[in-house]
Amino acid sequence: MEKHLLAVYPGSFDPVTNGHLDIIERACRLFDRVVVAVSTQVDKRPLFSLEERLAMLREVTANMPQVAVESFGGLLVQYASRRGARVVIRGIRAVSDFDYEFQMSLMNRRLCEDVETVFLVPAEAYTYLSSSLVKEVAALGGSVAGLVPAAVERRLLEKFRGREGR
Ligand code: COA
Repeated sequence: MEKHLLAVYPGSFDPVTNGHLDIIERACRLFDRVVVAVSTQVDKRPLFSLEERLAMLREVTANMPQVAVESFGGLLVQYASRRGARVVIRGIRAVSDFDYEFQMSLMNRRLCEDVETVFLVPAEAYTYLSSSLVKEVAALGGSVAGLVPAAVERRLLEKFRGREGR
């Protein structure tokens, strides 16, 4: 595959998981620069503020010089065009992700012909992982070690300290 300069990996990252990190690492092997773009519009009420989500992503990608972390509002394709990115990365974990991702990529293409969506598949171990599940397990006092980076695990513990059983 020919290398493109810049790819945008958008999402809500509430919080970033090892599955997201796996996709970021794969994207770095294909693209010169990867911008992880955190959406400011989250329909699902986020557990972590935008600033917390950005800080966690910056901490866990600090050793990846190709990666930048930013927030974006408005249409994704407009943001990608402004950023000079022609590629949007999305992770596909299972067939169940496909319908939504297919719809979104076609709508994005309709909005902007120049931006192409590239789907990457995470390591098998992360195919069942989602930010919601991680939050639910952590809220109920279960261990999320190995599912999220240590820095995220620490922040989840801080959020939910003393809340178990409520
Ligand atoms: N590993 C682990 N989990 C993953 C994953 C991976 N590799 N890939 C996705 N997920 C999970 C996320 O954790 C999240 O889980 P949750 O639902 O439990 O929180 C879920 O899959 C999907 O979240 P995410 O990848 O963050 O995407 P999103 O659907 O929240 O965000 C945007 C979608 C922000 C990209 C999209 O809404 C958007 O582009 N918004 C801008 C406005 C716009 O342009 N709208 C028109 C779009 S056509």
